Amino acid sequence: MDRPIHYLGSKLRMLETVKKAVDSVDSTNGCICDLFSGSGTVSKYFSSFRNVVAADIQNYSAVLCEATMSSLDGAPTTEQIIKEITQSDLRFKQQDIFMELVEYEKECIANARQNDINRLYEIIEKGSLYIFFNEDNIECSEDLAGQLTLVKERLLSSGEINSLDSIIIRYYGGLYFSYEQALEMDNIEHYVFKRTGLLKVKTLAALLSTASEIVNTVGKQFAQPLKVRDGNGRYKGTLCKKILDDRSLNVYEIYEKWLYYYLNAGEDCHKHEIICDDYLNVLEKLKDSNVSVIYADPPYTRYHYSRYYHVLETICLRDNPNVTTTFPNGTGGISRAIYREGRHQSPFCIKSQAERAFDNMFRKVKELGVPLVLSYSPFNPSQAVTPRLQTVEQLIKKAQVYFSDVSTISPGEFTHSKLNCTDKNFKTNHEAEILILCRN
Ligand SMILES: C[S@@+](CC[C@H](N)C(=O)[O-])C[C@H]1O[C@@H](n2cnc3c(N)ncnc32)[C@H](O)[C@@H]1O
Repeated sequence: MDRPIHYLGSKLRMLETVKKAVDSVDSTNGCICDLFSGSGTVSKYFSSFRNVVAADIQNYSAVLCEATMSSLDGAPTTEQIIKEITQSDLRFKQQDIFMELVEYEKECIANARQNDINRLYEIIEKGSLYIFFNEDNIECSEDLAGQLTLVKERLLSSGEINSLDSIIIRYYGGLYFSYEQALEMDNIEHYVFKRTGLLKVKTLAALLSTASEIVNTVGKQFAQPLKVRDGNGRYKGTLCKKILDDRSLNVYEIYEKWLYYYLNAGEDCHKHEIICDDYLNVLEKLKDSNVSVIYADPPYTRYHYSRYYHVLETICLRDNPNVTTTFPNGTGGISRAIYREGRHQSPFCIKSQAERAFDNMFRKVKELGVPLVLSYSPFNPSQAVTPRLQTVEQLIKKAQVYFSDVSTISPGEFTHSKLNCTDKNFKTNHEAEILILCRN
């Protein structure tokens, strides 16, 4: 199965195990709710066997799930779409405004290939158009400042300073993508938002997958642009190859590949429903549904998904978000990662709220009268892994308040271990993910 986006905690590699666990608690092949659908891989996989409700709080998840599980007849070919995008009027308008900046970056890239990395690294550090437009006294070279000023003047004089057609380059160009790649994605986005219905969803999903594939960061997420300096303040030459490789990826080629995938996806899928909402609202809505089992894969660390994938959310929403400051009280300047204001703060990622969040989940699922399969990725204290806000033992204890039969599966072995809350023999396998099975 394809990986639609690089996603932390994706269950792509354990789909069969999740299916075995789900089938073992619900043998009816009834409708499954994938309560935290994320990149959509679990929903997509199950849609070959069961009806699916895919739910998540993030809009990009809804787009990916809808695009991969729905089939579309009569869509234009990928060639037609690419032709229309690359010959659009917007492309020529963009060139008038951004051409020199793109050429400047190309020069910097050529210099970096000759081991002169300074100017390219400066773009990653200081080249944000958004920050340059919104903050005074940006310290950067005259060359870069000159280029950014030119773009600002042109956008102002043409009344385009907040244009939806330049969101990706203004917010993320230079930092997460090259200016040229960002511009090409803006051009694609312009095409996408002129479509409607499923064609819009599928062309948008292809753009999300493209952004995830080309982004120039560690781990292909969007928590922050590359840190280009070492502890002594010197530019890290070792990053250069990665920077050059990522920035030479061809947006239109990659987009066409993903278009092909999404336009042909969804043929053999069962019925599905997509919900973009908080998990508690989703569980409330399910009261009138025929869902027969819930699969839950919530976050377990203090890092919010909205922090890692805010760029994908903005691509979906296509708005002009305000950007947070480095410190919550408005100090420290605009966040270098360009986080959107008001991004979702999950109770599962907040220490003081996580326990209650799980408690609410168990209670609500119990009220539905259906079994639950809960994924848990253990924390190994001996490794440099982010601690989990709940231990598996705490979760099991909590689940046992509501469910009479709670057991665990350790993928790989696929053995059930029956537990009670005082079981002293229970040992956490810190390598493998665990599935907690809760039955009434
Ligand atoms: C571990 S990921 C799910 C990964 C998914 N199973 C996959 O294979 O891609 C957790 C998901 O929970 C979602 N989430 C976090 N808090 C939420 C909430 N309060 N309501 C609904 N979804 C939430 C996040 O957006 C994220 O996509």
